[in-house]
Amino acid sequence: MTSESSPNLHFREMEPDPDDWKGRTTVPVGASEAFNGYIAAHVVFGLDRLGMLDELDAHGSLRVSEFVQRGSLDEQLVHALLTAAESFGYLTTTDDLATLTDAGKEVALMRGFFTWSVGGYGKVLSSIQPLATGDLRYGVDVFRDEGMVALGSGQSHTFLMSSIFEDALADVEFGTIADLGSGVANRLCRVVKQHDGSRGVAIDISLPATRLARQNIHEHGLDDRVRAIQADVLDVVMRQKHQSELADIDTVMSFFLLHDLLADPATRSSVLPRMREAFPGVRTFLLADTVIRPKDTYQNSLPIFSAGYELAHALMGIPLHTRQAYEQLFADAGLQIRRVVPFGAAHTWLYTLDCD
Ligand SMILES: C[S@@+](CC[C@H](N)C(=O)[O-])C[C@H]1O[C@@H](n2cnc3c(N)ncnc32)[C@H](O)[C@@H]1O
Repeated sequence: MTSESSPNLHFREMEPDPDDWKGRTTVPVGASEAFNGYIAAHVVFGLDRLGMLDELDAHGSLRVSEFVQRGSLDEQLVHALLTAAESFGYLTTTDDLATLTDAGKEVALMRGFFTWSVGGYGKVLSSIQPLATGDLRYGVDVFRDEGMVALGSGQSHTFLMSSIFEDALADVEFGTIADLGSGVANRLCRVVKQHDGSRGVAIDISLPATRLARQNIHEHGLDDRVRAIQADVLDVVMRQKHQSELADIDTVMSFFLLHDLLADPATRSSVLPRMREAFPGVRTFLLADTVIRPKDTYQNSLPIFSAGYELAHALMGIPLHTRQAYEQLFADAGLQIRRVVPFGAAHTWLYTLDCD
């Protein structure tokens, strides 16, 4: 899949990468920074999973003894966690009060990356040696935690991407919208709730995610407007399953799933054309994904996420694509780029695409 291979793509003047995608981590990453970063990532993940980041973020500080009691937590362990978090500069503790610092506020905003890496890919990333020797195989012996990947992705959406998404959606007229790889359907519920008369279909391969999506839909009072279907999007797209349920969809969105759908080189070029056939009424696609970093830039610094994203997918044998390769696939499928904007994480773009 090279951008030169097809006559269809008339290269647009591409928007340059935002300056902050150069990142703030100086390369080479010293041994001390690498070690402390590894521990700090686990500390952030622990604070978030315990619900401390939510509480600290909402109120600025929390009473430690009361928090421990409320959650029936191990007091010594919580103190050890808070001591470590204080060592990293994320909070200060005085007597019984833990207070978030500015650095703590920043990691709270970025918490999705830690849920994604530590929670979602921790086992994969710590299995590099047996995966490389062939003693273990991804998908047979080693798995990512899909739930944590979806949760991390959802957190990043909430804290870093939602306003960008809402701006893009404001330009789209829709009646029934599908979300492919919808996770727990938070985004879809918000969209339908905010747009009178609209309806939604959430599609996700994961049974736990679909169960949570149905619960979410119910709690939002949207049982009559949003449906959650547990299905492999590749079955929907390539084998036209669930056709009768999808006939009225006019807008399809999909976030951070496209690279999975495009993993097989044998079917890669037909995924988007078949997606148009599977949703015969579709007029607009909103698609977002993270691309491979351009090779020739940023030798001396790194942003959060990109290197981890590229390594994790290499370990799973899932190829990633450049921005040019995505745009070629869009052009080959007859999709016109109406709008493309940086989407809250480095090397991540949100496309609004019109069907020609
Ligand atoms: C990285 S998460 C993104 C979740 C959500 N779109 C978001 O942006 O927060 C990928 C989601 O796609 C789902 N998924 C992965 N492969 C899928 C497939 N072939 N068909 C349907 N869903 C899939 C996963 O279960 C997970 O919920």
